[in-house]
Amino acid sequence: MATIYLDNAATTKVDKNVAEKVKKVFLDSYANPSSQHSCGKEARKLVETAREEIANFIGANPSEIIFTSGGTESNNLAIRGLAKANPEKKHIITSVIEHPSVLETCKDLEKQGFSVDYIGVNEEGIVEGADVKKKIRKDTLLVSIMHVNNEIGTIQPIEEIGEVCKKKGVYFHSDCVQGFMKLGIDVRKMHVDLLSVSGHKVHAPKGIGFLYVRKGVRVSAVQTGGGQENGLRSGTGNVPGIVGLAAALSVKQEVTRIRKVRDLLVKELLKIPGTRINGSLKKRIWNNVNVSFYGIEGESLMLMLDKEGICVSTGSACASNKLSESYVLKAIKVPELYIHGSLRLTLGEISEKDIKFVVSKINEKVEKLRKISPFKLEMSDGK
Ligand SMILES: Cc1ncc(COP(=O)(O)O)c(C=O)c1O
Repeated sequence: MATIYLDNAATTKVDKNVAEKVKKVFLDSYANPSSQHSCGKEARKLVETAREEIANFIGANPSEIIFTSGGTESNNLAIRGLAKANPEKKHIITSVIEHPSVLETCKDLEKQGFSVDYIGVNEEGIVEGADVKKKIRKDTLLVSIMHVNNEIGTIQPIEEIGEVCKKKGVYFHSDCVQGFMKLGIDVRKMHVDLLSVSGHKVHAPKGIGFLYVRKGVRVSAVQTGGGQENGLRSGTGNVPGIVGLAAALSVKQEVTRIRKVRDLLVKELLKIPGTRINGSLKKRIWNNVNVSFYGIEGESLMLMLDKEGICVSTGSACASNKLSESYVLKAIKVPELYIHGSLRLTLGEISEKDIKFVVSKINEKVEKLRKISPFKLEMSDGK
């Protein structure tokens, strides 16, 4: 049975060309890039070439790119690093739909005396620039708003928020893990001071990412050691990962084709009674579908689809054997009896034929689950 992989927001397959380049580094350029001998210098050169390519890609200077292990570390370094370097300012603004690597970091800083405003989103799943502006205070250090939400794929007004922050003299960080390579990124146009990226979401290996830190921004290291990466991220450089990340910049994004297949998927799914798409369809990344089916459990549906070779993700997270609702779906006020029956499908290499198969299987399983559900569709208010 062939697998149909529809979980590209969780991670992506490493691109063939990227994998070949990475393999070559593993085998031929394995020296420590900080070593002073010729092998070390060769590895260093690979790192610096990759840094330059990545910097050019986002309109930054090479010295502004700090390689990290991925999105979680980049977000931690951005937020904790700023907090540590600027102790006189104790207020942070973020949104309720951020990734846990931002939310949990902010919660941790609250325990250390910081005050954090978690601003809400509208029912489309969008942060309003005006809401950010209203919350800025004299002691605001940072605004951290993601570019694209990982669950519902909604695109945030980053340029507008960036402009507000710039005018108010507040640092602006954006978690661009889900937007990088899918939307154009220009750090100057977006007015970001810090920006996080992860390799494994863009067909590069796991364990590599970077944090863009605009020149002049005061950030302290959060991990001590040999002082690599301009003193901001100690640890031996991940040369294969860094080379892989730069190689991933050349991976062709099939925007038009995937958007078309995604739109077909949405159209077909909506034919199933008691179905809703969560979050804005207009301001949304082109490979994301987040869908809810009235009265059923998304987990059961996900497991049934898995048995058919279809990999999707649910809208709720399973924590300590207890099903918890997705905080993102809650934030956009998805009705209670839809919220548990949600799936996230994030498309990559997939054909229209496969999509038809996926929809037919979803239809079949939803019908099956509805038969055993205590919540009958007639009870729904039609939302
Ligand atoms: C929006 C967003 N931020 C951060 C991360 C964390 O990235 P990583 O897995 O590289 O640590 C993810 C991963 O799911 C994400 O979707």
